[in-house]
Amino acid sequence: MTTPTTISLPSDQDASGRTFDDLEVELVREALASGVLTSTKGSFTRTLEERFAALLGVGHVSACASGSAAVHIAVAALDPEPGDEIVTTSITDMGALTPILYQGAIPVFADVDRASGNVTAATIGDVLSPRTTAIIVTHLFGNPCDMTAIMDLAGRRGIPVIEDCAQAYLATSRGRPVGTIGAVGCFSLQQGKHITTGEGGLVVTNDAALARRVRLLVNKAWPYGEANPDHEFIALNYRMSELQGAVAVGQLSKLTDVVDRRRRAAAELTGSIRGLQGITVPEALTGDEHSWWKYPLLVDGRVVDGGPQGLAGELRVGGIASAPRYIQKPAFRCRVFAEQNTFGSSHWPFTLARAEALDYGQERFPGTFAYLDQVLVLPWNERYTGEHTRYLSEAIAAAVEKRSFAR
Ligand SMILES: Cc1ncc(COP(=O)(O)O)c(C=O)c1O
Repeated sequence: MTTPTTISLPSDQDASGRTFDDLEVELVREALASGVLTSTKGSFTRTLEERFAALLGVGHVSACASGSAAVHIAVAALDPEPGDEIVTTSITDMGALTPILYQGAIPVFADVDRASGNVTAATIGDVLSPRTTAIIVTHLFGNPCDMTAIMDLAGRRGIPVIEDCAQAYLATSRGRPVGTIGAVGCFSLQQGKHITTGEGGLVVTNDAALARRVRLLVNKAWPYGEANPDHEFIALNYRMSELQGAVAVGQLSKLTDVVDRRRRAAAELTGSIRGLQGITVPEALTGDEHSWWKYPLLVDGRVVDGGPQGLAGELRVGGIASAPRYIQKPAFRCRVFAEQNTFGSSHWPFTLARAEALDYGQERFPGTFAYLDQVLVLPWNERYTGEHTRYLSEAIAAAVEKRSFAR
């Protein structure tokens, strides 16, 4: 018997799976040669904002320091009162959650759909209260939430929706790019995202008044270019630098191709592993388009011995680094929430919350626990070729066969 050859997959953590080339080098050289590295005076960050606005068909874009900064800016732009509730998801990055606390608001966790890991209108509806002032949705792994139903619910209650699109560049919901459907959309340019500047973020909106607040929140609340400027309210320096702006201008020109390639590779893998016993392939809702930040499988532990962990162990032997559970526990089980570690020993703003808003009992989150128990996240990349997707599908099929209880 011959030992199967292990091939290494392109990774977004190094040059094998990133798209930097002479274009970014030239743009950074230009930025340096200009001698202007602050976006308050340079032109690269502004160009990035204009081009991203044109690509998404959205009225206003502000670049910022990170995806976490983008969410913080979005929350602060809506200006909640201390103790107001912001409904969010139990499965997301912490950068989408701590900004709520920094603004003195209370994150209220909605459960997720056990098939997609996304919040739904039903799970959000279950936790709305008279104190809800915003809803934040995360389009998990690039799969759009059901925005039609969510916007319908939010619209009826007059509650603005923030879309966290850190993982979902160019994903569409019923033909509309995510980020442009709610009041504000947030994107990340962190190392492992579809396009990157190492760290960085983007905030988008069609609302001119919100756009002004967003710009202020990037700039210590200083209204550059306006008459009689003053620092209008509490705000940080969340600016992107021109070095990042230059890289981002280059990266943005590649985004459509990056997403197309990820879609083609995902369709290939889905075509070859759909129907494997105990495996459920990821799918967008009808009429929506996934943009494949990652490829999350569901593994049924009643069919595949060891469930996602068992399958991950088999894949590791072939050099495939997958992530069972994605995040190890629901966000509300992290210490910041469980111990209410915030400002000094105050526990503020949790001290302002209704007891029900802080009820993190397991029975309230059946979808969350079911999803985390079943999900196995495969790394994904625009550089995957047919050889890579075949390697993945053969490794998954062999692992399922080996671990199947039905053998
Ligand atoms: C869904 C989601 N929201 C927010 C963030 C925060 O972005 P950043 O790491 O750029 O601060 C991330 C990124 O890791 C993310 O995946």
